[in-house]
Amino acid sequence: MRSSPRVASPRRYLMCPPAHFKVTYSINPWMDPAKPVDLRLALTQWEDLRDRYLALGHTVELLDPDPDLPDMVFAANGATVVDGRVLGARFAHPERTAEAAAHLAWFRAHGYTEIHEPDHVNEGEGDFAVTSSYLLAGRGFRSSPLSHDEAQEFFGRPVIGLELVDPRYYHLDTALCVLDDAADEIMYYPGAFSPGSRAVLARLFPGALIASEDDAAAFGLNSVSDGRNVVLPQAATGLFDPLRERGFEPVPMDLGEMLKGGGSVKCCTQELRP
Ligand code: ARG
Repeated sequence: MRSSPRVASPRRYLMCPPAHFKVTYSINPWMDPAKPVDLRLALTQWEDLRDRYLALGHTVELLDPDPDLPDMVFAANGATVVDGRVLGARFAHPERTAEAAAHLAWFRAHGYTEIHEPDHVNEGEGDFAVTSSYLLAGRGFRSSPLSHDEAQEFFGRPVIGLELVDPRYYHLDTALCVLDDAADEIMYYPGAFSPGSRAVLARLFPGALIASEDDAAAFGLNSVSDGRNVVLPQAATGLFDPLRERGFEPVPMDLGEMLKGGGSVKCCTQELRP
């Protein structure tokens, strides 16, 4: 048990309502076009998430949904913002290509000037995670290893490349979550990573919270922390006590409809770091 209390810091998030969310193609093992999405329920679940962020004192900015881009609700993939600098996305699959431009247009319209349009495939915060010391960067399914160098050069932060090996955990944010970005505190599911990457994580984060396979499969790593409150899928029950023991407050949410697209809390949330 930790004695000093955790302190939340106010965050600014970019989200996109799932007004046109559906599963019409399959680009990850969770997506089955034969399983219908309940759009009304998806909207309610998304609104609950947005309202929860607002209740926790965070700011939520909105991106306009495009009827031709059914995955746009997964706003985390559209860019990575650190120190107010925007690294645009370049999607691996043609079905999502146009989302990158929609994000760039939003940043340009909202006063951002340090914007880099990437040369290499990167799916935004799907594969980039920010700790105080590093930019953790996933590869193996979506983002190109070349995007890691590109991000390091643009942000001037040391990038740690991590190889994903299980197709169910195709983005870094399905297998690893930063709990405290003012320190280097994370939780992750080792089974999603190559042996070498597992060894790197164990070396850099010896005190990490290790998630079970069940909690990973419930998308428990696809969570958003403000340094104290950890908003996470409600089915990842095995994480609640270990989080509390570390002084965090689990905030369970139901994003069951989004899971049909292969995403949950974090996928719906892009953090705009000042
Ligand atoms: N259907 C989307 C895809 O496969 C889901 C993206 C989930 N986003 C995330 N940050 N993991 O691209």
